[in-house]
Amino acid sequence: MLEEWCARIEPAYPGALGQAMAYSLRTPGKRFRPALLLATYGELGGTGDAAELATAIEVVHSYSLVHDDLPCMDDDDLRRGRPTTHKVFGVEVATEAGFRLVEVSGQVLAAGASRLGLPSERRRAIAAEVYRSAGATGMVGGQVLDLEAEGRSIDLAELTAIHRAKTGALIAASAVAGAMAAGAGPATVDAVRDYGHEIGLTFQIVDDVLDDTASTAELGKTPGKDAAQRKATYTALLGVDGARRAAREHADRAVALLRDQGLDSELLAGLTRFIVERGS
Ligand code: IPE
Ligand code: IPE
Ligand code: MG
Ligand code: MG
Ligand code: MG
Repeated sequence: MLEEWCARIEPAYPGALGQAMAYSLRTPGKRFRPALLLATYGELGGTGDAAELATAIEVVHSYSLVHDDLPCMDDDDLRRGRPTTHKVFGVEVATEAGFRLVEVSGQVLAAGASRLGLPSERRRAIAAEVYRSAGATGMVGGQVLDLEAEGRSIDLAELTAIHRAKTGALIAASAVAGAMAAGAGPATVDAVRDYGHEIGLTFQIVDDVLDDTASTAELGKTPGKDAAQRKATYTALLGVDGARRAAREHADRAVALLRDQGLDSELLAGLTRFIVERGS
């Protein structure tokens, strides 16, 4: 599905812009967020083809990585084992490509909702969830706080708020979008959102740990950057062991939140384990 959209985008946006957009989508990521959307959709009884809806989230995520890697943000040369988009196409084109991917994500989301034949109220709820989570009170807001916290010593409460926003929000929205698309009721959607926030936080804690402990080959990005840039991370605050412990605690809480709602899903528990145990 990503490839279908790349083939559409590449000729539609002039010159290097379309190429840069397709390049950033084609780089081989884990595709965790779309997998999560498909998992909640299926576990909550969805039977349609939600791949295109899931693709919309990956487009939002990919845009966030293009901008996260820019020299004015984390200044990274390597992403998913390839040169970052601005290294290949220059900063101006990469910046523009990131913004244009946001509008593409809206088109993919609309197409994905149509493919599932979702009623308009559900479409509105999903779009609101995704773009609120990607915006000022979620991912973008968290990215601003992340940059502002560089070189500053902050406490665990502030750090947790940054991680929940910059990474947790979009992961939670992925889980919620799947639940909403499947037609889950408000109580279930709320439980899935809480679960999503817990695993989203876990995801970023483990990202911090891997930056400190994994190799370039495992990560597909340059390790040790957080310490070099004096980023506010769980490892800086709690050490590697403390951060790993925190990740396990949040993962356990995530699964417990589902269980409390009668959602005993081996698939969602397995995805949660994956987040904690992943090495890349
Ligand atoms: C990296 O996300 C950025 C964070 C929000 C931690 P992923 O670890 O999901 O990166 P890809 O998509 O697999 O490359
Ligand atoms: C990124 O966090 C969060 C985003 C919203 C992209 P990081 O800056 O830690 O992600 P990596 O380590 O570069 O993938
Ligand atoms: Mg960053
Ligand atoms: Mg980064
Ligand atoms: Mg990181």
